[in-house]
Amino acid sequence: MVQSERASLPIVVLLSGSGSNLQAIIDAMHAGLPVDIRAVISNKAEAYGLERARQAGIPAQVLSHRDYADRESYDAALAALIDGCGAQLVVLAGFMRILSDGFVRRYEGRMLNIHPSLLPRHRGLDTHARALAAGDGEHGATVHFVSPELDAGPIIIQARVPVEPGDTPESLAARVLQQEHRIYPQAIRWFAEGRLELKDGTALLDGKPVTP
Ligand code: GRF
Repeated sequence: MVQSERASLPIVVLLSGSGSNLQAIIDAMHAGLPVDIRAVISNKAEAYGLERARQAGIPAQVLSHRDYADRESYDAALAALIDGCGAQLVVLAGFMRILSDGFVRRYEGRMLNIHPSLLPRHRGLDTHARALAAGDGEHGATVHFVSPELDAGPIIIQARVPVEPGDTPESLAARVLQQEHRIYPQAIRWFAEGRLELKDGTALLDGKPVTP
């Protein structure tokens, strides 16, 4: 009997900038990651990630906050785009906007983010400079489910990077980014394969709580 194949998971990627994480996901998809990127959405028209999407034949869309009166109406338009393309997973990949509680709740358990630090250390911006200023011996990146509190959702996977003498925020960021490109496709694969879920506020992998 032929082994049954799981259908690709429809996903949407939200970004605001370069989109190197999007590229890692596209490359992984071409190498067999079972996802179908239905759309890439940016709040910024100049985001290079949109160009990466176009080059890969993925619909790329700009949704500018300038066209909306407030956060709630922007988030409602964003949700309409996401649901309209049938996405079952929302992947935040450098999307530089705070999302409303209502939006986050709507996608609870099916929205992931990647953050360039070893959470719960260094939530928010400028994580690489802050890790250096704090004298951290190691730094890294975290993929987590999104919860209403910023950068505080249940952790799925982390990658650790040693801080080296002479590191600058830029050199450290570059090494962390390499790891981001490894762990984000991994987390998405777990979700697409039905191995990862959010239950009662805990990330479960193969039914067991994740211990990063
Ligand atoms: C990454 O450092 C990611 O951790 C953060 O935003 C950056 C996005 O980079 N959330 P890119 O646009 O994927 O290159």
